[in-house]
Order: sequence, then structure tokens, then C-alpha cells
Amino acid sequence: MLKIAIINGPNLNLLGAREPGIYGSESLEDIISRLVNAYPEVEFTRFQSNVEGEIIDALHHYGFDHSGIILNAGAYTHTSLAIGDAVKAVAAPVVEVHLSNIFARESFRHVSFIGPHTLGTITGFGSDVYRLATEALVQHVRMRISQ
Ligand code: DQA
Repeated sequence: MLKIAIINGPNLNLLGAREPGIYGSESLEDIISRLVNAYPEVEFTRFQSNVEGEIIDALHHYGFDHSGIILNAGAYTHTSLAIGDAVKAVAAPVVEVHLSNIFARESFRHVSFIGPHTLGTITGFGSDVYRLATEALVQHVRMRISQ
């Protein structure tokens, strides 16, 4: 079975309550439950932390026994060389996601320390970015298997 870890960083535990005009009104739980129902063939692992080192530990932990990782590192995206290094270090392909379009926001959000080490980045489609990232990983893993 395909195993995908969804790792969310700081402040994403507040989804639904936090700036709904930017991040929408759905909670992280709502978003992930919908994914779990939509992809019965995928085993999802979920992890959220507001602590940089814990996100790195989660990447190390899931990055060698999962088929792929969906990562929304929140504001650490724009600051954390260490999370970028961890993404580069692990074996599993990582898809970076952001609910908001980081390129349409403040210039400090245009930089990602994670992006260069990912399979790709999906940004700006609201909560649908998690589904789009799942699609991308499922396709990627299928293609790798059939080669
Ligand atoms: C975010 C974008 C980041 O710039 C911001 O710091 C977040 C959320 C997003 O999902 O749009 O916390 O990653």
C-alpha cells in the first residue's frame, strides 16, 4: 500500500480559525479526513508541529519508510536551511504545498529553502493543494514502479 506522510508546520494547527480570508475556513482535520476518504488505496500518516526540530525529526522518521511526503512548513519555508537540508537528505519524494499563493504575497514569502529539494511545489489553490499533491505523488510512484 502507498504510504504518504502529511507534515504540517507552525500555525497550521489553527487552520479554520486563522486568517480565514487567506487560509480558508476548513480545519486541518477536515482537510485530511476528506483526503483519507477520497484515497482509500493510500495510507496517510499525519504530523503537525510548531517546533522546527520536530519537523526535521518527522522528515527523518517518515522519509525512509513512506512512499512520499506532503510538506507545508509554514513560515519555516522561508527561513529554515535545516528543514531544506532534511528534505534533501531523505529518500522519499517530497511535494511542498502552500494554501496561499506565496508568490502573490510579501516578498519575504517568495523564497523557499525547501523548493530546490522537492519533486515540486503546489501553491495557491487553498486546501485543494493537499489533494493535488496526493495526485502528483500517486502518479510519480506509479510511473517509477512501471519503469
Ligand atoms: C503557508 C504560507 C506561509 O508563507 C505562511 O507562513 C504559512 C502558511 C501557506 O500554506 O499558505 O504559515 O505555508
